[in-house]
This record gives sequence, C-alpha cells and structure tokens, in this order.
Amino acid sequence: MGFRSSVVATWFLLVVLCFLSSAVVADPVPPCEFPAIYNFGDSNSDTGGISAAFVPISAPYGEAFFHRPAGRDSDGRLIIDFIAERLRLPYLSAYLNSIGTNYRHGANFATGGSTIRRQNETIFEYGISPFALDMQIVQFDQFKARTIDLYSQVKSTPDAEKLPRAEDFSKALYTFDLGQNDLSVGFRKMSFDQLRAAMPDIVNQLASAVQHLYEQGGRAFWIHNTGPIGCLPVNLFYVSNPAPGYLDEHGCVKAQNEMAIEFNSKLKDRVVKLRAELPEAAITYVDVYSAKYGLISNAKNLGLADPLKVCCGYHVNFDHIWCGNKGKVNNTEVYGASCKDPSVFISWDGVHYSQAANQWVADHTQNGSLTDPPIPVTQACRRK
Ligand SMILES: *[C@@H]1O[C@H](CO)[C@@H](O)[C@H](O)[C@H]1NC(C)=O
Ligand SMILES: *[C@@H]1O[C@H](CO)[C@@H](O)[C@H](O)[C@H]1NC(C)=O
Ligand SMILES: *[C@@H]1O[C@H](CO)[C@@H](O)[C@H](O)[C@H]1NC(C)=O
Repeated sequence: MGFRSSVVATWFLLVVLCFLSSAVVADPVPPCEFPAIYNFGDSNSDTGGISAAFVPISAPYGEAFFHRPAGRDSDGRLIIDFIAERLRLPYLSAYLNSIGTNYRHGANFATGGSTIRRQNETIFEYGISPFALDMQIVQFDQFKARTIDLYSQVKSTPDAEKLPRAEDFSKALYTFDLGQNDLSVGFRKMSFDQLRAAMPDIVNQLASAVQHLYEQGGRAFWIHNTGPIGCLPVNLFYVSNPAPGYLDEHGCVKAQNEMAIEFNSKLKDRVVKLRAELPEAAITYVDVYSAKYGLISNAKNLGLADPLKVCCGYHVNFDHIWCGNKGKVNNTEVYGASCKDPSVFISWDGVHYSQAANQWVADHTQNGSLTDPPIPVTQACRRK
C-alpha cells in the first residue's frame, strides 16, 4: 500500500469510527430545551410560597445547602430543585414571594399544606394551605396574563429580563406533586371507605387542572404520584403498641400505604385517559412512590439510619418538639435541634424528606427508570 492510499485508508477508518461512535454514544433524540418550569404542589415542592404568605420556615431548615432557611421544608434542595438543575434552569421563585424573585424561567405555585381538593379549614388548625390546586391554577392564569401585559410595556428595558417571554408558556414543562395532603385530611376526617369513594373526584380535579393548562397552550406535563405516606415518621409518633400487622416489614403503617397505592393507581388510569383527551400533550406519570419506598426498604444496604428515625426535632416517648422549635420537657427548655449528619437520614423532620433522600429519589426518577412512558425529564416534551 502506497503512502497516498494508506492516508486515504486512515481517513476512511476515522470517518467510519466517528460515525460509529456518534451513533453509539450520542443521544439519538435531542433534549427538549424547556425554557421554563411551572410547578403545582405542596410542601414536597414548595420553594418559598407558604413562607412568603404566612410565617417563614426557620433555621435549621436549609442548613445543608442554602446555609440559611430557604422557604423549603428540608435541610436543602427538593426534588423540584434537582429537576431545575437537570434542565439547566435556575431554582424556581415562588409566585407568592414578592422579594428578590425572577420569573424568566418559570414560577412555583406550590405551597406547603396544599391539597388537590379545596378544604374547609384554615391553616391555623392543621396546617392545610388555603391555596389548593384550583387556586394555584387561578394564580397561574393571573401570572400569565399580567406578565405578558407587563412584558410588552417594559420590553427592551432591564425589567423585562425577570419576566417570562410569552412564547415560552407553550414550551414550558408543567410539573405536579400533590395528593399527600388529600390523603392526610382523609385519614383525619373520613373512613377508608369514604376516602376511597372520594378518590375519583380527587384525581379528576387534578386532571381538570392539566386540561386547563393544555387549553392555555401547555403541552409537556410531568406528574408525580404520591409517596408512601405510611412511612412518614409522624404517623408513628403517637402510636405506642401497634397491633400485629399494623406495620409492614419496614415499620410503615400498612393501611395508609395501601390507600396511597390505590390513589396512585386511580391517578395513573386518569393519566392514560388524559392522553386520549389531550392529543397533543406529552404526559409523563412519575412513580415517586416506588422510588421513596425503594429508598426506605434499602436504607440499611445504603448505609443510612433507620428510615423511621428523624434527623431534626426532639421526639422522645410522647414528647414532641418539632424541628427548629423550643418547648418544655420535664420543666426543662428543649430545642428541636438538627442531628449531626443529616445526609444519613431519610426523614428530615418527621414529615419531610432530607436533601439526601430528595437527591436519591430525583436520581431514580429523572432518568426515566420509574416513569410511564420511560423517558428522562429532559425528553418530557416527546409523546411516546
Ligand atoms: C366544604 O363545604 C362545602 C359547603 O358546606 C361543601 O359543599 C364541600 O363539600 C366541603 N368540602 C370539603 C372538602 O369538605
Ligand atoms: C425527662 O424525664 C424522663 C424521665 O425521668 C427522662 O428519661 C428524660 O431524659 C427527661 N428529658 C429531658 C429532656 O430532660
Ligand atoms: C437511572 O438511575 C439510577 C440511579 O443511578 C440507576 O439505578 C438506573 O439504572 C438508571 N436507569 C436508567 C433507565 O438509566
């Protein structure tokens, strides 16, 4: 082989190799490039809403990442923060927060204590937020109308940079994480049969919200199901001698988890119907339940603390001083302090997950391994 032909052969080989490696390595489908996220939810995804509207969440919340309280019910980031990171977007500003906010890349309508269905109680009774999903949707409509109007007034001034662009609403990712508080209110006020009978109405109200956003131009929806509520340590704080069979093998309240599973199965069926009703929508159902339960059942193997133990707060026998609060036990002042190493705890405060747990759940859901259809969040604009 002469010099010339060996150069040609080498070039040919290189071209073939490049072609092969790009076919194997590169993602065949480009990412969706969402310009914004609009989130609807409860404390699992509230990034400052309830703190802005009522009493701010205090230290030591936020200590592990923000190094100050950051309006989140955790020591650090929530799943929605990890979604923002994955989509290379900034953390979402809460719609209700009037200070230091930037809505160019979306807004967060979630508030701690929110339900899907409107409740007839004030936040001062059991912490149920007045901003149920129907109000979050009303707030979204107002947000959209007013920001579009304002944008056209301040266009080409620096003020426009903190506002969403009108054309981005139809390209945004719409995310949902709700249902946990509808179950907790149900456990408090209803029999299991009554709660079961209410489930079709609850999932229909979530579906109506998706339909409404679709009519407003939204096309990509990422819907979390609800977690294993019976594994929240708070549900065991007031149980002293559980009857045999009350708890499952991991120490979770079995009947409560069964209700969550039933809710999720109704939600999944409703999502399937929604896909038929909204032919241009890409709707991903995300099995957060299995991710959270998988984490809890693997705690030991992963080198984590007992999943029913709480990092922050004083919870001994029947004395409960919640995370960040002060109270008296045996006439001595007690502070609900944080543990030494929150990263080995699944539960941060008895109700809410630690940042480490949120990260684990995000890692096991965002790549599409527990979603229907099985697509990563970066591809959630594609219909499968
Ligand atoms: C709230 O009260 C109204 C009027 O009494 C009633 O129709 C509705 O069903 C109640 N909602 C809930 C969730 O209890
Ligand atoms: C309160 O008293 C009980 C019983 O004597 C004791 O076990 C517990 O450690 C005391 N708690 C505090 C915070 O002093
Ligand atoms: C998703 O990530 C998790 C955690 O790293 C991993 O166990 C799983 O195999 C991944 N699944 C896919 C479909 O990439």
